[in-house]
Amino acid sequence: MSLLPIVTVPDPVLRAQSAPVERVDDDLQRLIGDMFETMYEAPGIGLAAIQVAVPRRLLVIDLQEPDPVAEGEEEGPPVKRPHVFINPEILHRSDARKTYNEGCLSIPDQYAEIERPDTVRARWTDQQGRTQEGEFGGLMSVCLQHEVDHLDGVLFIDHLSRLRRDMIVKKVVKARKDRLGHVL
Ligand code: NI
Repeated sequence: MSLLPIVTVPDPVLRAQSAPVERVDDDLQRLIGDMFETMYEAPGIGLAAIQVAVPRRLLVIDLQEPDPVAEGEEEGPPVKRPHVFINPEILHRSDARKTYNEGCLSIPDQYAEIERPDTVRARWTDQQGRTQEGEFGGLMSVCLQHEVDHLDGVLFIDHLSRLRRDMIVKKVVKARKDRLGHVL
């Protein structure tokens, strides 16, 4: 497995429309492995293939939450539960909405409160090539909606005002310039 470079704003690659995955083959399994490694290393909880410059409808998600514990017990360490979504489709979005403080590996160190439907029903192909359907709430719902947006070239900052969005992109560009300045 290998780490892949993550594309950041304002790279136009992030605005591309991703095409469906046609075959769950060895190449795809390799890409999935590399995407998990890249996401864990970053670190992040979700990554869309377009963020590593592959315009295919593929997402990896791992919330890395600790196991649930009984009341009064101490929370354990984060547990890895990798999820793969190939050609995901959101079939239904709840009317109820919820706000969550979102970030994105393609928009480093920037966060904003984003309102989205609270729960979603989705259909996707899993890593074994089987069709799956499920309902998601909580952080999984937020993450899935955020990642599916990536496949259509949509970023979380698109849910903000133009002014706010431009400001965030400027901050990312400036931070990168400052960083490069230090190594030169
Ligand atoms: Ni993102």
